[in-house]
Amino acid sequence: MGLALEVRNITKLFGSLRAVDDLSIGVEEKTITILIGPNGSGKTTLINVISGLYKPDSGRIFYNGADLTGLPPHRVYRAGLARTFQIPTLFWKLTVLENVLVAKKDNPGEGFARSLLRSTWITAEKGAVEEAVRILRLVGLASVWDKSADSLSGGQMKLLELGRALMSGARLILLDEPISGVNPTLAHEIFSKILKLRDELGVTFFIVEHRLDIALSYVDHIIAMAYGKLLASGNPEMVMNDAKVIESYLGE
Ligand SMILES: Nc1ncnc2c1ncn2[C@@H]1O[C@H](COP(=O)(O)OP(=O)(O)OP(=O)(O)O)[C@@H](O)[C@H]1O
Ligand SMILES: [Mg+2]
Repeated sequence: MGLALEVRNITKLFGSLRAVDDLSIGVEEKTITILIGPNGSGKTTLINVISGLYKPDSGRIFYNGADLTGLPPHRVYRAGLARTFQIPTLFWKLTVLENVLVAKKDNPGEGFARSLLRSTWITAEKGAVEEAVRILRLVGLASVWDKSADSLSGGQMKLLELGRALMSGARLILLDEPISGVNPTLAHEIFSKILKLRDELGVTFFIVEHRLDIALSYVDHIIAMAYGKLLASGNPEMVMNDAKVIESYLGE
C-alpha cells in the first residue's frame, strides 16, 4: 500500500515555541491512523499545517505524492483532503441536509451558501440532494435531516462534520477529536462508522484522539508525539508498549 499522506520534516513555530519540531510521519492509504500526545504537544497545529490553515516554517506535505505545502485551505480541500475541527464548525441555523449540501466541492463558496434561501436548494441540484441523503444514511443522521444544526447533540454534530467531509468527496479525512465530549455508546458508534467508511469507500482517516479506551480497537496505526516531536509510530500494540510513550503520555 502507498502513502496517502506524507509529512516531511515539518516545523511550525509560534515565536520561539516549536509547536511542531522537525516532524516526519506517513499515513498509509485506506487505514485508520490516530495521532496521540499530551495536551499542547502540537497535534492540532500539525492538522492545521496539513490542511493549509498554517504555513509551515520548513518541511513539506505530500498528498498522494503531490506537494501541497503552503497551499491555502480551499486548494487543499479541492485536492481531496478534508478536515474537521476540535470544536465543530457548522452552519448553525441551516438544517442537517443543508449543512451537507453546502460542503459539495464545486459549491461556489461559503459566502454564497450563507446567503442562500432555503427554497433555492431544493430546486438547485437534485443529484446533490440525493447524494447528501445517501451520506446522511451512511453517518446515521437521515432521521434528523430537517433539524437545524444547533439542535443536534454533541455526538450528532461530530457525525454531521464527518458527513460534510464525505460530501466534499475527500479521500483523506483529518478528524480532530471526533469523540471528545461524546458518551461511550455514541463514541463507539462513531468509530464503527469510520471503520465502515474505510472498508466500504476506501477513505483514509488521520484522527487526533485522546480517548484510547474507545479508539484503540478500531485503529490500524498509532503515531505518538510530545513537544512537537515524534515519539513512536507503529501498530497499536507496539506503540502502547513503547517505554517513551508510556512515560510521556500514559503516565501523566
Ligand atoms: N495560534 C497559536 N499561537 C500561539 N501558540 C499556539 C497557537 N496554537 C497553538 N499554540 C501553542 O502550540 C502548542 C501546541 O498546541 P496544539 O493546540 O497544537 O496542541 P494539541 O496537541 O492539539 O493539544 P490538545 O490536546 O490540548 O488539543 C501549545 O503550546 C499551544 O499553546
Ligand atoms: Mg488539539
